[in-house]
Amino acid sequence: MFSLPLRDDAVLFPLEVRHAEEFAAHMDRAREHIRPWVGQAFVTDDLDGARGTLLRYAERQAADGARLYGIRLDGKLVGGVMFVSLDAVGGTCEVGCWVEPAAEGRGLVTPACATLIEWAFAERGLHRAEWHCRGDNVRSGAVAARLGMTLEGTLRESWPFGGERHDTQVWAVLAPEWRAAASAR
Ligand SMILES: CC(C)(COP(=O)(O)OP(=O)(O)OC[C@H]1O[C@@H](n2cnc3c(N)ncnc32)[C@H](O)[C@@H]1OP(=O)(O)O)[C@@H](O)C(=O)NCCC(=O)NCCS
Repeated sequence: MFSLPLRDDAVLFPLEVRHAEEFAAHMDRAREHIRPWVGQAFVTDDLDGARGTLLRYAERQAADGARLYGIRLDGKLVGGVMFVSLDAVGGTCEVGCWVEPAAEGRGLVTPACATLIEWAFAERGLHRAEWHCRGDNVRSGAVAARLGMTLEGTLRESWPFGGERHDTQVWAVLAPEWRAAASAR
């Protein structure tokens, strides 16, 4: 498949099963950084696990559901964004993201997520894009805010991790809000 320039040094591309070795090597760099903040099935330890993640997303994409995209910075896979879910009938999706430590604070994730949301609204005609994060995930909440999302509520103690239960924030942006913000820009 083709890749989309995010800016001069970075591209967004569909992350597929054939990228398993590259994804596993990236996961070695990202694992401990993302572990507290993402779904535990996403944090794999070896090549088989990495391939399993890519296969799971490929199968869900084939059914017009979840989708996974990588971000390459200077040619190296440093993270990515995804549709955690996509419900074409219900008109909703959930977007997610991660990067390895060296790529954090580089401004890569927000435009990558914006690309997915724009596609969801403009191309697929969805109405609502959600963002779920741990309540204490300040950097993730900041991405949602930069995307123009509204913090709609908190699911109390719904995120088990490390023997504790954490709150989950639910953020969302609606298609008319997205279009109005684009027009204002
Ligand atoms: C959540 C996460 C992806 C956010 O990454 P991020 O790098 O903070 O987000 P962005 O890519 O949008 O970058 C914004 C930052 O880059 C900075 N930046 C640097 N160069 C920039 C540029 N050219 N353009 C825009 N911003 C730039 C911004 O100032 C901002 O930094 P600040 O928050 O310290 O002010 C990252 O912290 C992460 O992977 N965390 C672990 C996994 C995780 O939590 N995933 C989300 C689960 S819900």
